[in-house]
Amino acid sequence: MRFTTLAVAAVAFAFALTAQAQQPIIIKFSHVVAIDTPKGKAAEYFKKLAEERTKGRVKVELYPNSALFKDGEEMEALQLGSVQMLAPSLAKFGPLGVREFEVFDLPYMFDDYSELHKVTQGPVGAALFKKLESKGIVGLAYWDNGFKVMSANKPIRVPADYKGLKMRIQSSKVLGDEIKALGGIPQVMAFSEVYQALQTGVVDGTENPPSNFYTQKMQEVQKYLALTDHGYLGYAVIANKKFWDGLPADIRTALDSAMKDATKFANDIAKKENDDSIEAVRKTGKTEIITLTPEQKAAMKKALVVVHKENESRVGKDTIAEVYKATGFAP
Ligand code: LMR
Repeated sequence: MRFTTLAVAAVAFAFALTAQAQQPIIIKFSHVVAIDTPKGKAAEYFKKLAEERTKGRVKVELYPNSALFKDGEEMEALQLGSVQMLAPSLAKFGPLGVREFEVFDLPYMFDDYSELHKVTQGPVGAALFKKLESKGIVGLAYWDNGFKVMSANKPIRVPADYKGLKMRIQSSKVLGDEIKALGGIPQVMAFSEVYQALQTGVVDGTENPPSNFYTQKMQEVQKYLALTDHGYLGYAVIANKKFWDGLPADIRTALDSAMKDATKFANDIAKKENDDSIEAVRKTGKTEIITLTPEQKAAMKKALVVVHKENESRVGKDTIAEVYKATGFAP
């Protein structure tokens, strides 16, 4: 009798162990934008590839639209292990103490995606990721979004038009200086709060790539959108280092290959997604799209490039110099 009880217990224990061994590894991947954006779509694609290539041993749970954590919360959640992956915009690493990432926010630094890729896919991109390690974070990839537009409820063409406008920005000192250089008043705010802040007049305007503007329905609350292309917004896909390093080697290899392909996907779709969003906004008839004349563009550039020098000590003279070298930018 006693033997039977022991045998049953042993079998039950073995079953429990097997069941535990078969439990998938869960990756919670949180982000703040809509599903139908370059980042939202790339995250979905990563999930699909990751689950396929690990044959179900990994399950990626996506939390888009700030559903789990919003800006200002998500970095800490990653460090604490409440989520395993994020893809914050490159403008959001300052509060973490890695200010060099704000080099991507310097106005007019990149003329196009190919210039940008010389940085994200070159030694500067790798060196920036290295700086995350002491924060318990591993950098996995850079995903593109696009070049930013400005929006407001009055026509904005030249710097004088921004005077006194309260403009929502991400948590980047460089972006704050950019708005100040135009005579505006920068206001740092989480992405999830922007629509309502525009609707209620807490802020007058904002900047973002068109895909974010359109998918957050900002055309309902902004009458003018200026195609300024004054700066770039993209992402660092990052993971909790302890979690990532602790994964079985074969799983990490499969996830690395899923990330490589998801990155190509993200960077292939980003430009078209943004071009399509401009047309979609135009079609709504709610927001007037302003194309700047060459003279207006020159005036914006002249007013904004001062931000580079102002932020030399914050971002790092060497980092800025290396990016200038890679892109050919001449201040
Ligand atoms: C923003 O806060 O404006 C953007 O960083 C949102 C995003 O992730 O694209």
